[in-house]
Amino acid sequence: MQELEERIAARGRVLGENVLKVDEFVTHQVDPVLMNLMGDRLAEVFADKKITKVVTLETSGIAPAIFAAQTLGVPMIFARKSKSLTMNEELLTSSVYSFTKQVTSTISISRKFLSAEDNVLIVDDFLANGQAAKGLIELCRQAGAHVEGVGIIIEKSFQDGRKLLEDMDIPVVSLARIASLKNGEIEFAKADA
Ligand code: G4P
Repeated sequence: MQELEERIAARGRVLGENVLKVDEFVTHQVDPVLMNLMGDRLAEVFADKKITKVVTLETSGIAPAIFAAQTLGVPMIFARKSKSLTMNEELLTSSVYSFTKQVTSTISISRKFLSAEDNVLIVDDFLANGQAAKGLIELCRQAGAHVEGVGIIIEKSFQDGRKLLEDMDIPVVSLARIASLKNGEIEFAKADA
């Protein structure tokens, strides 16, 4: 997505060889106009897939997910990250290991919001190693829901996330794909949409 690539090129900052800081418009301060465009684009790509729910993981996935859900005309559900769960019997839960933060968190969605009738689009801001998306897919599958695909704002294509999801037969659509962050330079690969 050209508008996103242009913004990343202008305002993204490279931290080391692996991390792209986009806190001016995605991960901390949010540009609602760009975010709306990105949610619309993901909704467009999945428009004929009969999506019934958009699912994301708090915090930074919520903004693109809500715009995609609004355009698709379906509810958005965000999985919560929580360590103390007191209502296990009513929750779908899975574990997500973050290579970035080196912690495992338990993520959960209330059972009442997903069922075997649901056809889900998963949306997230970053795809790195794919662990967050994999955890969300597991939650959906626990409910018997079908996962139609994963929509991503920024994919770091030099990490393993896309392969992990494609090996699970889940289509991945990324609005920007970063081929490399070497030498402080942002190199793009061809985006999916
Ligand atoms: P994975 O889910 O693809 O395996 O990613 P990983 O564990 O490496 O990422 C953990 C967190 O770091 C996620 O946010 C993810 O969005 C974020 N992240 C990964 N790579 C980058 C990057 O290059 N730049 C930025 N800005 N963030 C990155 P999170 O912990 O869930 O944070 P939040 O959504 O609660 O804010």
